[in-house]
Amino acid sequence: MPTRNQIRQLVRTKRQSLSKIEQQQFSNDLLAQLTERADVKAAKNIAIYLANDSEIDAMPFIQWCWQQKKSIYLPVIHPFSPGHLLFLHYEENSDMRANTYGILEPKLDIRLIQKISEIDIIFTPLVAFDQTGNRLGMGGGFYDRTLSSWYTQYCLDNEGKNIHERKITKPYPIGLAHDIQLIDEIPSQLWDIPLPEIVTPTKQYKFDIHK
Ligand SMILES: Nc1ncnc2c1ncn2[C@@H]1O[C@H](COP(=O)(O)OP(=O)(O)OP(=O)(O)O)[C@@H](O)[C@H]1O
Ligand SMILES: [Mg+2]
Repeated sequence: MPTRNQIRQLVRTKRQSLSKIEQQQFSNDLLAQLTERADVKAAKNIAIYLANDSEIDAMPFIQWCWQQKKSIYLPVIHPFSPGHLLFLHYEENSDMRANTYGILEPKLDIRLIQKISEIDIIFTPLVAFDQTGNRLGMGGGFYDRTLSSWYTQYCLDNEGKNIHERKITKPYPIGLAHDIQLIDEIPSQLWDIPLPEIVTPTKQYKFDIHK
């Protein structure tokens, strides 16, 4: 089985080979998939990301959210708690700066920080996923840390329930990815938090991730 880093390299290369036209098409298809979801329509506070390294671009969806008067939050690397993220309010005219990875984030201002427990849905970026909901990110463990208490609560809330009667625990994480990011199997580690759902331009995956 390839190592986690080999998978990251392979999938990133595949993703980088998508053309600009394909990226635009997929981005619009993603918008269509997301806007038909009842939980998205009902959500008030949505955390998402700005596409980097050929990730699927959710900008058309972000614009739709603004039109619907939803509040959008972006991850900001915590200034003194290593490996942790803060989520800051993001508007069309927000002051932005590049973080250490070169990714744009809202300029840190404590008045713009949203509590994780107030976020309805966190759309997470990812490098690769498999058929059981395992997620492989860029390797910082940022989303694993962000979602670890959510996962404990989700498992408690859904003890003994089948997949169709699952309770939605906030902040509900949904992965966003290109279809080509699906791989056979991700060797997962103890700290990895699986995702209950992943949306691609063509499909909405639901996974049974109960411990
Ligand atoms: N809850 C946690 N507590 C402490 N360390 C953690 C936790 N989650 C992840 N880590 C650490 O983070 C490092 C990177 O994790 P991993 O390789 O799973 O990143 P990733 O899931 O690909 O990245 P990301 O979540 O940022 O997209 C690991 O070395 C791991 O020890
Ligand atoms: Mg991980």
